[in-house]
Amino acid sequence: MSNINISGYGDDLTINGIRIGDLGPAEHEAIELEKGGQNYAPLENVVVSSVLDSSTLICRKPDPEGIKAYIEEELLDGLCCYSAVNQGQLNKTIVDAVIAHLQTEKIPTVPRSIRHKYMAAFLMAATAITKMDKIVPKVAGVEAPELMAKLSRRWGYQVKGIPADQAIIVVAAENFHGRSLFAVSASTDPTAKEGFGPFLPGIEVVPFNNVDALENLFKEKGDRIAAYIVEPIQGEAGVILPAADYHPRVAQLCREYNVLYCLDEVQTGFGRTGANFAHQLYGVKPDLMACGKAAGGGIMPVSFVAGRKDVINVLTPGSEGSTFGGFPLAAVTAVYAIKALVDEHLAEKARIMGERLQGHFESVRAEFPDKIKEGRGAGLLTAFEMFDKPGLDGHKVSLKLLENGIYAKETHKTTVRFAPALTITTAGIDHIGESMRKVIQAL
Ligand SMILES: Cc1ncc(COP(=O)(O)O)c(C=O)c1O
Repeated sequence: MSNINISGYGDDLTINGIRIGDLGPAEHEAIELEKGGQNYAPLENVVVSSVLDSSTLICRKPDPEGIKAYIEEELLDGLCCYSAVNQGQLNKTIVDAVIAHLQTEKIPTVPRSIRHKYMAAFLMAATAITKMDKIVPKVAGVEAPELMAKLSRRWGYQVKGIPADQAIIVVAAENFHGRSLFAVSASTDPTAKEGFGPFLPGIEVVPFNNVDALENLFKEKGDRIAAYIVEPIQGEAGVILPAADYHPRVAQLCREYNVLYCLDEVQTGFGRTGANFAHQLYGVKPDLMACGKAAGGGIMPVSFVAGRKDVINVLTPGSEGSTFGGFPLAAVTAVYAIKALVDEHLAEKARIMGERLQGHFESVRAEFPDKIKEGRGAGLLTAFEMFDKPGLDGHKVSLKLLENGIYAKETHKTTVRFAPALTITTAGIDHIGESMRKVIQAL
């Protein structure tokens, strides 16, 4: 006899007699605390239930009257899953394709050891949008920078001629490349590292946006350095934009020292910053690029490394792989995620709406110059930073924004990031701006 009984759909989904539609926010939290690992600290007292439109979530909150298990309210999604939903929640182009492929086309699930017809489509679309020679599909975002590190090391030994096991990968301080052992070895965030050592050797850290530090390291150890892996704009660090000439100078230095220039565009890619890929804002082209998040249109986890063929050609059968990397449903989702990006002119929309949002930041800053230090961003990857003073607390701002019907979250104590869907309307942007004003005024 099995000890599990599952029935129903949606709110009627019932697990061993407990119906999901009957659970209030406190009960969700209790189940997560009891049965889940505590690797996140989600916003208190709110549970997302469904989607109203491309930028609006339906959420459950405690009933102020205390009668019902919860009430439902609309919430403008100001983060869109940390840029995984650039194309908007349930983007029609992608959803229609997925449904057609599951129900009409009857898409199979097969491993990479047998060819499927959608892989060719994925590779053609992904090489075209990235303007890169070759693609290697993976699943989670973190797997893409991880694979860039592996590719760089192998290229370093086989092509550059670095002595065995001596390769160095350079990363930038305050980076975020995910949570794998390579990513946390490369991290400078003590919370991400504590208790997880020993870390991978062969990683050197330089300050972000500091060409001299990179050049000094290249001068000292250049013949052992395989790659510099860096985000074009540091997202998790609080939307930190480098000087306009940083990337062109880094790209030039990498060429001079025969070091691979590898960009982690997992968060900045797919239109987010006002260009299809953030490196295009700086007029450079990386040797390798990591993509994830919106590569799956918010529907499926899809990631990949795109890059120069002579670098990607160091891979040989068996040296790398992933059961679900580029499996048929992921390949189809990725193709239509690209189609939505292109057909809906999402990069251009990000640029226009980003300017509008930054206009709001600037008027709130001008009104409260003692509270707001600056607003910044590229396209719709934006943040505002408050002064580090008592009472100016990013988490408190997130909770107050929630009361105003906006979901956004602090990154670090004084910075609040907004990265809504690129399909957001001007009314949505103005709602964010007006709510921000109200919240900052009340602080
Ligand atoms: C630049 C960058 N790289 C990698 C990752 C990791 O992606 P995932 O959480 O999907 O593994 C993230 C996630 O925020 C990111 O911003």
